[in-house]
Amino acid sequence: MDDRAEAPIKHFTAKGYGVALMERGNAPPVEVEIAHTLPGDQILFELTRKKRSPKKGRLLEIVTPSQDRVEPRCEHARVCGGCCWQQMEYGAQLRQKEARVKKSFHFPAQPIIPSDAPFGYRNKMEFTFSENRGGQRFLGLMIAQAEPYVFNVNTCHLCSKWFSDVLNAVRTWWEGSGLKAYYPPADTGSLRYLTLREAKRTGQKMAVLNVSGNPEFALNRAQLDGYVAAVRSAVGEAEPVSIFIRIHQAKKGKPTQFFEMHLFGPDHMVEELHLRGGKLSFKISPISFFQPNTLQAEKLYDAALAMLGQADTVYDLYCGTGTLGMAAASFAKKVIGIELSPEAVIDAKENAKRNGILNVEIHQGDVGHVLAKLMAEPNFIRPDAIIVDPPRAGLDPLAIHHLKTLLPKQIVYISCNPMTQAENVEELFKAGYRLKKLQPVDQFPHTYHIENIALLER
Ligand SMILES: C[S@@+](CC[C@H](N)C(=O)[O-])C[C@H]1O[C@@H](n2cnc3c(N)ncnc32)[C@H](O)[C@@H]1O
Repeated sequence: MDDRAEAPIKHFTAKGYGVALMERGNAPPVEVEIAHTLPGDQILFELTRKKRSPKKGRLLEIVTPSQDRVEPRCEHARVCGGCCWQQMEYGAQLRQKEARVKKSFHFPAQPIIPSDAPFGYRNKMEFTFSENRGGQRFLGLMIAQAEPYVFNVNTCHLCSKWFSDVLNAVRTWWEGSGLKAYYPPADTGSLRYLTLREAKRTGQKMAVLNVSGNPEFALNRAQLDGYVAAVRSAVGEAEPVSIFIRIHQAKKGKPTQFFEMHLFGPDHMVEELHLRGGKLSFKISPISFFQPNTLQAEKLYDAALAMLGQADTVYDLYCGTGTLGMAAASFAKKVIGIELSPEAVIDAKENAKRNGILNVEIHQGDVGHVLAKLMAEPNFIRPDAIIVDPPRAGLDPLAIHHLKTLLPKQIVYISCNPMTQAENVEELFKAGYRLKKLQPVDQFPHTYHIENIALLER
């Protein structure tokens, strides 16, 4: 098979890569996955993975551009694995996402809620430290279709400019620090990744340097001071910024442990969510989970809450730090949240207190197991409505079993994976539920990710 070919891009893979149909004489055409291409493009490409499936190719030239193609804003757009769709006009991105939701459910969806700010929206980024065999250093993001290889990011347009300033300052500090990037197979080197966070509503900033817990590679005082100085010089000496290191201790046969060291500035940030029901404020520590796009999270939560009818008791399952449940607490008598992560539960309880919310109760544990325990209690209160927001894999069989037993009037199902969401919804049809509404929300412009709300009623 010749390594170079010209072909049209026909559709996208589930990960948002273009698929070229490569003709091979009389044999059936072969599908080749090629990053940074879109349906309607006619391209010249080179095969980079010929034997295994899926076959992969590298874009060499756009022979005829798709009518949806635009000039990407980012200098790294042809390399970066972070956003695959920057070369697609924003309206076309939204149409692709809407179509994927409709296709997953075979049901009409509401128009997707777009982002007012398709750039600069991320409140958190993680940049990886890496070195090649020649000792060349990289601090940035993964190369598209070539993970875990990392390239040097100069500017990322998905976050505020100060993220790029800090990233470049930390890279310069690294070059003179004598430190090596962490190398997992040998447990050698120090630097793992740099996490930057920004509270979008308050402007507060945080930098967390994630380092190895192997004591042989611990940072010394001068190295820590150098890191702090690099971050402060990039954000401006007078600007408040929370600076941490996070020690990642991974020992064979033992659970991974993390320890934070607070080095400079306030020991947390405060973020706000402005919702139709008012304003909520949240304490964010280096490990706290928060939806990565604050302004779109507000729209997502508002849309989900608008679907809830009159409900005295609301369950918020997979509640994270309890943000959605706390928003629901303003109109429900009682909200019960369930979340697996002990850290998120600590944050959730603290955030409820911070906002003076007394009618939210948070339980730590697996949804299926905690529900079983609660249902066995004599004073158990049946929910009128249940909100679920599980991880990508969707609801597990035990959680579905309990939903089918509890039979709330409404289930508001939020998901970042319409495929597993559609499968679970199909299962709930067997318990008499009907799909009333589908509302996609664009939380991650320039990526293929979709957030979708499904309203089910009996
Ligand atoms: C998509 S996040 C939703 C977070 C939250 N609703 C929000 O908007 O911030 C999914 C959450 O489910 C939690 N989780 C994952 N598996 C779980 C399980 N089996 N039981 C309970 N919570 C789980 C994760 O820790 C995570 O916080």
